[in-house]
Amino acid sequence: MRPHPSCLKKGEIYADGINWDDLGFGLIPIDHMYTMKCSDGENFSQGHLSPFGKIELCPSAGILNYGQGLFEGLKATRTEDGRIMLFRPQENALRMIMGAERMCMPSPSVEQFVDAVKQTVFANKRWVPPPGKGSLYIRPLLVGSGSNLCLGPGLEYTFLIFASPVGNYHKGRAALNLYVEHKIHRATPGGTGGVKCVTNYSPVYQTQQQARAKGFSDVLFLDSATGKNIEEIVLANIFILKGNVISTPTLKHGTILPGVTRKSIIDIALDFGYQVAERVIPVEDLLAADEAFCTGTAVVVNPIGAVTYQDKRVEYKTGGALCQKLYETLTGIQTGRLEDKKGWTLEV
Ligand code: COI
Repeated sequence: MRPHPSCLKKGEIYADGINWDDLGFGLIPIDHMYTMKCSDGENFSQGHLSPFGKIELCPSAGILNYGQGLFEGLKATRTEDGRIMLFRPQENALRMIMGAERMCMPSPSVEQFVDAVKQTVFANKRWVPPPGKGSLYIRPLLVGSGSNLCLGPGLEYTFLIFASPVGNYHKGRAALNLYVEHKIHRATPGGTGGVKCVTNYSPVYQTQQQARAKGFSDVLFLDSATGKNIEEIVLANIFILKGNVISTPTLKHGTILPGVTRKSIIDIALDFGYQVAERVIPVEDLLAADEAFCTGTAVVVNPIGAVTYQDKRVEYKTGGALCQKLYETLTGIQTGRLEDKKGWTLEV
């Protein structure tokens, strides 16, 4: 069912007890979540909204025992005139379908996914921050929820969406001070680095914590095949600029998450007249870059201020001018400040 198109307008009620000027990136439990089940290993039946709360799982569920699960991340943003916009939700749906195939799970169709996201946002519209204060981060999950002790895909799957108002992932969009990790790897060719599976994330906690203890803000991983090329920053794709050429690691080895923001930034950069290369990027090119930045739904477009590789530290001097231009353009489209010529936004 399509939600009624009217959304909270200026002067209408926002959720109480929230300091909209100080949103970070953490869970604020909101009114509703969405659940849809598949019990035959193939089809998802009619989903429903329910109050946000705990879920029940059999201790032998595929997600708990064997990590059979995927997640997505997308945002709903409020425009100056009070509309609520989603940004390319079909892309998240398609990525979930691709990941589900890799993880031997059925997936909601694009239509089911987008409809579920719209329903979730509409039901929680008072939690979509006022214009310019942040966004509603939407977290769809697809997990093996059936009881299945032996290895192999089961029949029962749960598609669930929860959401939370968020601000910047990195407070004040501060420039990152990255540690380039050369011993531990995030992804391997033929592995699952290119799909958003839940098991890609916690294995980096240890490396991340060790880097943070040394004062770094995050970790950039190198490819596991040669240990020579840059790949991904835990939760974000990386871009570098040299002259008029913007480069980002190629997706072709299956070790890079195909980010929706990554894809959008490539298009915006091409429109600005930059050359964009999706290629293998030796770490030396990162060290020699004029500018570096990262992209992702959570981080949006965030500058990289410095990188440290083994005993070499490089600071970027341009002050992130390209990064800022791309950020302004992307968020301009997302918030309705700039015309959406590409049809990327979808009103809830
Ligand atoms: C996102 O950008 O949506 C992500 O998935 C990052 C998340 C791990 C915080």
